[in-house]
Amino acid sequence: EQDPRIAKISSAIRVIPNFPKPGIMFQDITTLLLDTKAFRDTIDLFVERYRGKDISVVAGVEARGFIFGPPIALAIGAKFVPMRKPNKLPGEVISEEYSLEYGTDKMEMHVGAVQAGERALIIDDLIATGGTLVAAIRLLERVGVHVVECACVIELPELKGRERLGDKPLFVLVSST
Ligand code: PRP
Repeated sequence: EQDPRIAKISSAIRVIPNFPKPGIMFQDITTLLLDTKAFRDTIDLFVERYRGKDISVVAGVEARGFIFGPPIALAIGAKFVPMRKPNKLPGEVISEEYSLEYGTDKMEMHVGAVQAGERALIIDDLIATGGTLVAAIRLLERVGVHVVECACVIELPELKGRERLGDKPLFVLVSST
């Protein structure tokens, strides 16, 4: 028995075929943000799971992890740390390269945003191949942070991103086929 809030969250996500290119079914969470009840329920479901777990860092992945991460961080009393595309953060950064379908990308985090021994949750809107979350996990672990779990609103299970995370737990609200 699934939480009754999940079905409404799922139906508030709009799917746009062939965006940004042919064959891709884009999972558009902007329509979820328009539904005040479903958006609140989304945040609440994460907060209910992570409150009281001694998490001091919510790391949000650009761009849509910046939408879901901060309200969760505030509600559980954690700081919010942005994990950004290259050359966006002004201070000293550490960076992690990761592979895309074509070529590579880089993710950056400010040095000093987190301390060794802290416990972190990583938030993004969606896991596809898992490459993005693997890079985020590596960045945090390189500086001695314990990544408790990764959490996304949507998983595309056919792309097997969960397998790429290995033993790292992944929590998602909606699976999309
Ligand atoms: C999407 C999504 C995740 C990532 C997941 O971001 O929001 O961050 O892809 O893909 P993966 O599991 O295969 O790594 P996108 O590349 O669209 O970047 P954006 O959020 O900056 O638009």
